[in-house]
Amino acid sequence: MQRPEDQILTIFGASGDLSKRKLLPALFQLFLRGLLPDKFRVLCVGRTKIPAGEFARTRMREMLDSGAAARECAEKLEEFFRLVEYFSFDSSDAQSYGALAGEIERVRSLSGAGGRVLFYLGTPPAAYPAIVDGLKASGLAGEKSSIIVEKPFGSDLESARLLNAKLNSAFPEERIFRIDHYLGKETVQNILVLRFSNEIFEPIWDRNHIESVEISVSETVGVEKRGAYYESAGAMRDMIQNHLLELMTFVAMECPANLGADSIRDEMAKVLSCLRPMDDAAVEKNTVRGQYAGGMCGGVQTAAYVDEPNVAKDSAVETYVAMKAFIDNRRWSGVPFYFYTGKRLAQKRSEISVNFKPAPPLFSGLCGENMRNKLSIIIQPDEGISLQFALKIPGKSFSATQVSMDFNYSSLADVTLPDAYSRLILDAMSGDSTLFARSDAVEAGWKFVDPIIAHWKRSPSKPALYPCGSDGPTEAVNMKLEHSASSCALPLANALTSNLDGRA
Ligand code: BG6
Repeated sequence: MQRPEDQILTIFGASGDLSKRKLLPALFQLFLRGLLPDKFRVLCVGRTKIPAGEFARTRMREMLDSGAAARECAEKLEEFFRLVEYFSFDSSDAQSYGALAGEIERVRSLSGAGGRVLFYLGTPPAAYPAIVDGLKASGLAGEKSSIIVEKPFGSDLESARLLNAKLNSAFPEERIFRIDHYLGKETVQNILVLRFSNEIFEPIWDRNHIESVEISVSETVGVEKRGAYYESAGAMRDMIQNHLLELMTFVAMECPANLGADSIRDEMAKVLSCLRPMDDAAVEKNTVRGQYAGGMCGGVQTAAYVDEPNVAKDSAVETYVAMKAFIDNRRWSGVPFYFYTGKRLAQKRSEISVNFKPAPPLFSGLCGENMRNKLSIIIQPDEGISLQFALKIPGKSFSATQVSMDFNYSSLADVTLPDAYSRLILDAMSGDSTLFARSDAVEAGWKFVDPIIAHWKRSPSKPALYPCGSDGPTEAVNMKLEHSASSCALPLANALTSNLDGRA
């Protein structure tokens, strides 16, 4: 990996949670791997009025306590924090951007970091417009500047368009990096290599051979301290509109013309624009909402969603979604894509399953009704790939069993999977926008989910409650079961199996 050009990274909202939990640890990892620019500074910007030294000391302590930096790395951590400056600044005050420009100039001459500046908006999205206006008015959005914004990119199509227009008023699209940390996960990027570098998959990667695709992201955590945000988001906006739809684009896209950012992002946007819109009847039929109830979970008493801080007692916000969607293009016509995501579920796991159609009857029933080739891409944890297929059970009869060929990333000696944030920050510092959401893709995602959310809002029914530590609401579990049942049941084949058994 190449080191990016010299620059200053300015983080807004630097005293917030994101900067503590993700950004500073990711930058520290890049520092340890020698991947930060030669002349570089992180300028942390936040409302809290504290001396720079105290900001650094507190963050170092937090990183050591949380394990974001190992104890044995304490010296290296101190070295890293010599690159971190702090500037107390109110981003909502349009008058103070001149002072910020002055501070950036001071840091630049101190470090010799050159003219490039990357702004990272780690603030709540409500603060974005004022920051973009301030940067523009103070001349900080010049040719050598770029900007990273965190999701959510709007809360519906209209607000996403407004946000995109605001960002584009100060920065051209190629210098806007909309970060979706799922795209930074190594296993997600590997989907393209798996599909397009191996000649065995691409010829069968279509409606003629694939029966269904399942994309599931389950979490064991609840909404934690983010009740206020979650009340306005819910699982549909928080997870499906971005992470799960992005995963879908990697599974479903056509082979890009080249590996450039625009080619790949063109293909992603095309898939999203082919999602079949849902009317009210389709939403009723193809979606299930759930909300976690309280109770004992793994031996620990946990709160119901409605009892979390900053959540309304009568909240109808969903913490779980199951959904069936279709991509109306030539490759995918008629193939259902199932999405499942939720909080406080039995396990933390993100996985994509590509379920192939059964073989013709004579052989497909040899190992019972569940026989299907299935390719599983396990995104986390235990990152890997597994292919299921049928194998004859040794002996006389033609009985088969389902076995799997498994690859696990941990078996690659000396390979540590890079953290998604480190990878994405490095890409943004290098000006590579391939793994960042483009405005048209974001808008296409909202266009698809808006009618679903609107229908739920109008509907008198509430999300179904599910116990924490479960697999989600019964309705969603049923949806899964119906799906596997419809893809099984091969009476003719089973009959043939018994005949064969009889002959053995
Ligand atoms: C974030 C969501 O984008 O992704 C969180 O806002 C969610 O609600 C998180 O917990 C999940 O990310 P990961 O990488 O832990 O699967």
